[in-house]
Amino acid sequence: MRQRVLRGGLCAPRGRKTGKRMATSTLTQAKKNKADEFYTQMPDIEAEVRHYRDQFEGKSVLCNCDDPYESHFFKYFALNFNFLKLRKLVATCYAGSSVMQTELPLYDVYGVAESDAEARNPYKIEITEVVDTNADGTADLVDVAYLLRNKKNVLTVLKGDGDFRSPECVELMRQTDIVVTNPPFSLFREFMAQLMALDKKFLIIGSKNAITYLDIFSLIKEDKLWMGHGFPNGNAFFRVPDAYDREWAAGVFDQTTGLVKFRNVSWFTNLDVSKRHEFLTLYRNYTPEEYPRYANYDAIEVSKVSEIPCDYDGEMGVPITFLDKYNPDQFEIIGSSRFLGRPMSEIAPKGTYVAGGIRFYLPKGDGTYRRLYDRIVIRRKKRSAK
Ligand SMILES: C[S@@+](CC[C@H](N)C(=O)[O-])C[C@H]1O[C@@H](n2cnc3c(N)ncnc32)[C@H](O)[C@@H]1O
Repeated sequence: MRQRVLRGGLCAPRGRKTGKRMATSTLTQAKKNKADEFYTQMPDIEAEVRHYRDQFEGKSVLCNCDDPYESHFFKYFALNFNFLKLRKLVATCYAGSSVMQTELPLYDVYGVAESDAEARNPYKIEITEVVDTNADGTADLVDVAYLLRNKKNVLTVLKGDGDFRSPECVELMRQTDIVVTNPPFSLFREFMAQLMALDKKFLIIGSKNAITYLDIFSLIKEDKLWMGHGFPNGNAFFRVPDAYDREWAAGVFDQTTGLVKFRNVSWFTNLDVSKRHEFLTLYRNYTPEEYPRYANYDAIEVSKVSEIPCDYDGEMGVPITFLDKYNPDQFEIIGSSRFLGRPMSEIAPKGTYVAGGIRFYLPKGDGTYRRLYDRIVIRRKKRSAK
């Protein structure tokens, strides 16, 4: 693995537009192009998993939609297999992966037919122990590579294409305790539906845009899904394959680091995380002047999560970033502007508001209305601390 990839997570692209809108449209483009290959950085995986360390003990972990050996997910769990006290690690890759075999050519692996290596057929790796095979004093990736090259049945070629929805990959998921991966952005909802159907624990990366979809939002509302700890300062850096046409990534791709940066990507999980039990300190008092009411829904607008009033018992609209601070003992989620807002056409004459998908609007005071970003409607729980 080239050094710049490992180091690059710390560097922000410079001199380019990296605003929310640009990142969002780039993700949309990725979805369109099925350009789904964003490779996660080791420090980001490490920084997230440490918040759940105890929950991995004695568990089997599946990294699907991955590249066993080349991916940092695989490397992280293989390297920390003993530290996390894992029972089993399984990783699978998908046909056509551009990084497959770049670090571990299958020609070298015990029991893999040359025709499978030649055809770059997808495979799975199953590890149940990582021992210091080469006696260099530590159980590390060199030992894992040794294991793969020399031991039968650790690496096996898949029957199908490695699609997470294929019967053999569904079965692997069924047998797993915790799924940890960065699934294709374009298939996030399908991936989540499968996790739910199989009642799995998971820690996965996805676009925050998904929060506004009814299926994903409903899971959040029902406390079946929440945000993980998140990327440092909200900056998610990924490597993209060298062969990519980087035109689509203009604005988020940095030539120096070879990484793309997204501000609207985070970790989604149903593993318990301490921040979910932290109470947000509320210090502002409600006044009608500072917290205006929406024109198309009966709630007040709170434009910053830090400004949620401590003395307001009714419904409040807050930005989606609220979910990073959400403690279900402190707040109740009522819904989202997308599904609660009344169409403005029922409320105000054409030309007084910017039309679009359903959002909340605020009266400007001159007969026109300001359209807001998506809002989540919440209410303080009665027993919550102020
Ligand atoms: C966002 S990348 C993440 C790669 C790796 N997990 C990481 O984070 O470094 C998504 C991966 O899913 C794979 N993929 C695309 N479609 C897939 C599918 N239908 N089933 C399984 N994997 C798929 C791609 O080849 C790609 O490696």
